[in-house]
Amino acid sequence: MDRIAIVGGAPLNGSIPISGAKNSAIKLMAASLLTDQPLRLTNMPRLADTRFLARLLRRLGTEVTEIDGPEGPETLLHTPEIVSAFASYDLVRQMRASFNVLGPLIARSGHAKVSLPGGCAIGGRPVDLHLKALEALGAHIDLNEGYVYAQAPRGLTGAKIEFPFVSVGATEHTLLAAVLAQGETVILNAAREPEIVDVIECLIRMGAKIEGAGTSTLHIQGVDRLDGATHPVVPDRIEAGTYAVAAAMTGGKVTLTGCRPEHMGALLSKLEEAGVTVRRAEASVEIERQGERLRAVDLVTDPYPGFATDLQAQFMALMTLASGESVIRETVFENRFMHVSELARLGADISVHGGEARVKGVETLRGAPVMATDLRASVGLVIAGLAARGETVVHRVYHLDRGFERLEEKLSNCGADIRRLKGEEDAA
Ligand code: EPZ
Repeated sequence: MDRIAIVGGAPLNGSIPISGAKNSAIKLMAASLLTDQPLRLTNMPRLADTRFLARLLRRLGTEVTEIDGPEGPETLLHTPEIVSAFASYDLVRQMRASFNVLGPLIARSGHAKVSLPGGCAIGGRPVDLHLKALEALGAHIDLNEGYVYAQAPRGLTGAKIEFPFVSVGATEHTLLAAVLAQGETVILNAAREPEIVDVIECLIRMGAKIEGAGTSTLHIQGVDRLDGATHPVVPDRIEAGTYAVAAAMTGGKVTLTGCRPEHMGALLSKLEEAGVTVRRAEASVEIERQGERLRAVDLVTDPYPGFATDLQAQFMALMTLASGESVIRETVFENRFMHVSELARLGADISVHGGEARVKGVETLRGAPVMATDLRASVGLVIAGLAARGETVVHRVYHLDRGFERLEEKLSNCGADIRRLKGEEDAA
């Protein structure tokens, strides 16, 4: 398996183009199951996760074509008919978001058998809210041998669904079923993430009737059928935020192009609080730090518009070199501090008590071999490696490949000494 080797210490200078958002792209791909007409997604990221979902969709009956269009990468998805409504354990286990084909499959074909995803490195991650919402829409659900067997032979019916807490996945999943239900569905306490707004905008382009995008109450009037459409994937605020933190970590001046600074509000404010200069434009943002040491700042992760849990590991890496102590509280996932012990291998001083990490800034980090168990933790280690003295080798690069497109190229174009080592990984 590949590794990434970084020799730290070079400031980042230049510009980094931001790709389409992984966490929108994979939901939009699932939405293509809702129509027998082609859905054309532009600004598509080319990632292990999108390739993976394409493989599943092909088994369900979708023709998936990747095109290098005049404005960048596109994917055309066309499902003339659902040829199978089965998603196996092997497929769902490898990428949890595959579970979200369940709703579209029931909505379009009246039945489905989809594996339960199980837990993962960052927490238990149950799908109870997804299943309750689908039941509220009239699906009959049985759980047997690790599979969800769902039936709605006469179609789904609109319902009022109030989530006890905010869930991105459950909100999207409910939307992807309710758009083809009979009558009105109201979702209360809906998630407001930009990726959800993006999915709603795409569904509206396909002919869905949805009001309230970006608020916590969504009204959906079911329609009989959806059409094809062309839709640009929203820029990846987590990728952009990651490179913003990388530039803050190494110092230098980096412009992130093709992004939406208004989707990065919580992160950009924290960077400013820490002493980073942030210059926002309509579709780009410039991040600058010239030499001065950053101040430690506290943060709490929360659903959007709060500070994204998907940027917590990266920001923690930044705080390892700040002056003072930073208290970082993770409220979204119960086990999202797996990067702490790896950062400690680089010399970071961090203690964890329950959902809270205390990061005491140190003067220097020193390169070491490290590995992480999830995507965002891995990129947090890359960021630390960019500022550490000497060489850091990040193992289990497949995590990074799931969600970061051309990571080494984007960073080395700005002056980072980073390269991929092909081949065998050390025994874990
Ligand atoms: C999405 O996960 C993202 N994944 C995550 O990004 C992201 O960290 C998360 O939202 C929060 O922003 C994708 O979009 C593919 P949730 P999701 O449902 O939908 C609990 C990455 O690195 N919960 O908002 O799974 C759950 O366990 C990934 O790109 C239930 O208890 O997140 C968690 O504690 C990692 N029951 C909390 O809610 C349910 O039925 C929020 O999870 C559903 C969720």
